[in-house]
Amino acid sequence: MLDNSRLRIAMQKSGRLSDESKKLLAQCGIKINLQEQRLIAFAENMPIDILRVRDDDIPGLVIDGVVDIGIVGENVLEEEVLDRQAEGENPQYKKLRRLDFGGCRLSIAAPRDFNYTGPECLNDLRVATTYPHLLRRYLSQYNVSFKTCLLNGSVEVAPRAGLADVICDLVSSGATLEANGLQEIEVIYKSKACLIQREGEMSATKQALIDKVMTRIQGVIQARE
Ligand code: PRP
Ligand code: ZN
Ligand code: MG
Repeated sequence: MLDNSRLRIAMQKSGRLSDESKKLLAQCGIKINLQEQRLIAFAENMPIDILRVRDDDIPGLVIDGVVDIGIVGENVLEEEVLDRQAEGENPQYKKLRRLDFGGCRLSIAAPRDFNYTGPECLNDLRVATTYPHLLRRYLSQYNVSFKTCLLNGSVEVAPRAGLADVICDLVSSGATLEANGLQEIEVIYKSKACLIQREGEMSATKQALIDKVMTRIQGVIQARE
């Protein structure tokens, strides 16, 4: 059964945000024993449970109120919101603060020999991406329409594999693009990690705990600046 008296925080299990997320919670004095295979970990010194899941699942868990707090990339969050809005939902959450890690950009990239002169070059091309809604929002400003090849991973190999003409994916160091013979042609969204809270009622004790953790996070981030 769900123990609703404990604050539930979702973070990425493994990936770009997981180490920094873990570090941030540890620096806030939350003592957690993260055993590798465990989905859920219990803080020893505070009524907090840590859920370790795929990054893409975190916005939905917060919006649906399954967890109280999520540490998530803005890119994944925004895409989930646009996706739900497209389904006719009205997704709600509170953004508590932006964090100081997980910086990356969502960019369109094309094979190196692609002669790019502007967004209109992309009209009617097929784009491999995990972020169709963010891409559509961006390209619609230029009245550019496109076909999608929806992939949750290995997006960068799609042009070489003949699945798509170009890609739209996250870029951090640029190494993945470089290794796959791709050039970045358009930055469409700049993202960082952020903390979000579910909408709806929160017990006074839970809210007090959130306030305490937020104050500590503020201190940790300020000390790093
Ligand atoms: C992103 C993206 C690339 C890589 C780019 O994946 O899909 O694979 O990072 O980084 P680079 O520019 O430093 O090479 P991410 O780590 O977000 O994993 P996920 O897509 O599996 O969630
Ligand atoms: Zn992911
Ligand atoms: Mg990836």
